[in-house]
Amino acid sequence: MRTQVAIIGAGPSGLLLGALLHKAGIDNIIIERQSGDYVLGRIRAGILEQGTVDLLKQVGAGERMQTEGTVHHSIELVFKNQRHAIDVHGLTDGKVVTAYGQTEVTRDLMDARQAAGLPTVYEAGDVSIHYFDSAQPKVRYVKDGQTHEIACDFIAGCDGFHGVCRASVPKASIQEFERVYPFGWLGVLADVPPVSPHAIVYGNHERGFSLCSMRSLTRSRYYIQCAIDDKVEQWSDQAFWDELRLRLDPKLAERIITGPSIEKSIAPLRSFVAEPMRFGRLFLAGDAAHIVPPTGAKGLNLAASDVKYLSDAFVDYYIDKTEAGIDGYSERSLRRVWKAERFSWSLTTLMHRFPDAGGFGQKIQEAELEYLVSSKAASTALAENYVGLPL
Ligand code: APR
Ligand code: PHB
Repeated sequence: MRTQVAIIGAGPSGLLLGALLHKAGIDNIIIERQSGDYVLGRIRAGILEQGTVDLLKQVGAGERMQTEGTVHHSIELVFKNQRHAIDVHGLTDGKVVTAYGQTEVTRDLMDARQAAGLPTVYEAGDVSIHYFDSAQPKVRYVKDGQTHEIACDFIAGCDGFHGVCRASVPKASIQEFERVYPFGWLGVLADVPPVSPHAIVYGNHERGFSLCSMRSLTRSRYYIQCAIDDKVEQWSDQAFWDELRLRLDPKLAERIITGPSIEKSIAPLRSFVAEPMRFGRLFLAGDAAHIVPPTGAKGLNLAASDVKYLSDAFVDYYIDKTEAGIDGYSERSLRRVWKAERFSWSLTTLMHRFPDAGGFGQKIQEAELEYLVSSKAASTALAENYVGLPL
């Protein structure tokens, strides 16, 4: 088998890259370790920047998002039992974010790929990548007991944090930067109307962080900060709802509609960047290259900007016959990645209870929150990052 770009991983990065390349007339095959249903079973964040929305529309996968997604003009911060709105729309010359779950984005991209008849190999075993330091890279995998080989011009490593692509790069050629946070997020998905249908609510409380989000007008997503070693079995639905209410301002807490969880999980929080993002003819994109803590919901949006830059680079190569794009890919992506890393780290630091912060740390958080909601300059900086820095 031969293709121009072999894409490893059918998460949002791989699927969106495949769609952008197809639009530009560039052949690609996606090789995914899991089944399609497994990929769709993962619940992740659900806030799309305008740039991400535009890319999904551009590849013809935006229809359902436009009807079922909910536009948010503001966000709300709760601290000291009071709620403060930040008018993101007004502070950014009319920019907004769209609440639409990553699972749905993935489903729409999968459906569009299938409708276009583009090749995706699901349940590929023992995926390995070879010769990416030469002009003839290869991808091997096992399917139905047989080993297959794909010859290609380029490999796109869209295989997430635990994938094979980053792990195949010689250690001496890659530098990793990491921060692990001393707590987790306990998340609950429930078929109840969201308490705040037009703004995500971020809560800072002495008992820990809380977040009120949504997937639709009938499906809510809530989170609370929990201990890093908590087990999900320790948290009954009732205990979760009780704890969430304690961390919000009383008026909002009263309005929360509870119901049985349809998903409940604990996620660790991590900041991670691998540099560079290109090794010969291997390019990393999305979670394969970087992780942000979920505060601010930048993960999917960064994956989208990476693959936009990467598809531009391949278009330069195949259509305009210049290597400038592929040569500049890593630097261009990392500039945007580090800004989103900074934002996600700072919002995480501002909103969570850190075990070693002490009274001083808490007072500094309160001062910063008060400054944030009372200074137009400070809230503009937050809003500008929240809607997404320009591509
Ligand atoms: N071979 C083939 N596929 C693999 C391999 C492998 N060795 N290892 C992992 N994969 C697949 C995973 O099964 C997954 O479907 O790669 C895909 C990577 O998808 P994601 O982890 O969703 O990463 P990405 O597409 O970059 O999306 C980034 O998703 O993870 C969230 O928070 C993240 O929102 C962000 C976005
Ligand atoms: C989510 O809906 O899962 C979500 C929303 C906003 C965030 C993080 C997660 O900042």
